[in-house]
Amino acid sequence: MKYLPLFADLNERNCLIIGGGEVAAQKIRLVLGAGARLTVIATKVNNEIRGLEAAGRLRVEPSVYGSQAISKFCSSDVALIVVAEANPLDAEAWASWAHKGGFPVNVVDRPDISTVVFPGIVDRDPVLIAIGSSGTAPVLVRRLREKIEELLPSRLGRLAQFAMRFRNAVANAETNIISRRRFWEGFFDGPVARLVLKGQEHQATKAMLRIINGVGRSTPEGSVALIGVGPGDPDLLTLRALRAMQDADVVLYDRLIGDKILDYVRRDAERIYVGKAPADQSMNQQAINALILERAHTGQNVVRLKGGDPFVFGRGGEEMAVLKEASIKVEVIPGVTAAIGCAATAGIPLTHRDYAEGVSFVTGSTCDGGTEPDWASLATLRHTLVIYMGVAKAGVIGERLVEHGMRPETPVAVIENGTLPDQIIAHSTLKTLGVTVTEQCIGGPVLLIIGDVAALSREESRKADAHIERYAHAF
Ligand SMILES: C[S@@+](CC[C@H](N)C(=O)[O-])C[C@H]1O[C@@H](n2cnc3c(N)ncnc32)[C@H](O)[C@@H]1O
Repeated sequence: MKYLPLFADLNERNCLIIGGGEVAAQKIRLVLGAGARLTVIATKVNNEIRGLEAAGRLRVEPSVYGSQAISKFCSSDVALIVVAEANPLDAEAWASWAHKGGFPVNVVDRPDISTVVFPGIVDRDPVLIAIGSSGTAPVLVRRLREKIEELLPSRLGRLAQFAMRFRNAVANAETNIISRRRFWEGFFDGPVARLVLKGQEHQATKAMLRIINGVGRSTPEGSVALIGVGPGDPDLLTLRALRAMQDADVVLYDRLIGDKILDYVRRDAERIYVGKAPADQSMNQQAINALILERAHTGQNVVRLKGGDPFVFGRGGEEMAVLKEASIKVEVIPGVTAAIGCAATAGIPLTHRDYAEGVSFVTGSTCDGGTEPDWASLATLRHTLVIYMGVAKAGVIGERLVEHGMRPETPVAVIENGTLPDQIIAHSTLKTLGVTVTEQCIGGPVLLIIGDVAALSREESRKADAHIERYAHAF
């Protein structure tokens, strides 16, 4: 993150705007809107600025430079300097002078010499949304702003003010911090908020008073959401997962949950890493179950994030059973399992009328020394076999399936870090699987897709390579 978004309090603070044309006027509207005391330094100003001067909203001074301007117009208390429409040399001089004096400076269209930049703003005062692209794509920011403008109700600011009016009353009625947050979560999703957004504030006030007077003071009931977050790409999160992640008080996550997914968790939620790498037994399943129970008993919304889907090789069933046993409310939110996500991104149809009648999800790692999968039966099915957690035994798996009758040339796609930017897809066969895995895999999670459908992906990538080659020759 190159810029940290902050909201500046400019009320009654001195600001300088250098320039008197349309670009300067745009910035002046914003800065005046924030209540700043404004001096415009320009030899010539447009009608809008002249009108604002006549109305006593700002003053216009002919060109002076740097420290002269400061001592003349605003002592050393300058909260912001905006350089708009100066010639490039003047702009650089202003910027370098501001840097020396330690004043925040924005030079329009010159993020390289600015210390602050103006974001795109969606204004539902007092609710404000600032959008930035670190100076890389102002047009994209504008498009995003338009989209957000469409999404947000016009009376959102009224809703925030309405909530503000009742803040103390709710705090007095709900002394428990968790209950209070629940109250507000329910409020913003509920009928009173809808009345405010429809402009019916009188009815909303009456309804709100009724609710506050009836509010109980009991300890809130805790709950647990077992959430499948998919194989890694955050775009594969479901809407339901996003909502639950935003309601979390505490989040338990393990090794395969990346930062990009954690970015969607409510910012104030506590985050607890519970490990669970194959070699990392720092927190075993019993300890995780105990922690979930303990947090839910204190009334927290516990979110347990799981890669892929919680019920596919995710031990979600065990966690759910423990919670049900303890009468804790539990919701299971499905996720895109690695097989589905990886197959889609690799272009492999897991079933196909010409090649596979079905698909079997199989674990390559036997649980706590349990029995091996029934390779003999799996080899006779006309199924695509998707092997989870099989990388360490890939060579043996290939041998077993061949021993039980599958062709040694049966295609295998080895997919590592599927759906992520560093995804690797290696094409192999049952005969060469062990070697491929040793040579190609670098340590991320790996899925093996075994069956004739795996060759379709190889065919597609060959065609793509050929196309790129032809295209390259044309130039
Ligand atoms: C403990 S299992 C969890 C499976 C998860 N519940 C699911 O539905 O995908 C972990 C295994 O899933 C597979 N896996 C998970 N994410 C993957 C990814 N992005 N790319 C390839 N394989 C992945 C790997 O085989 C990994 O060893």
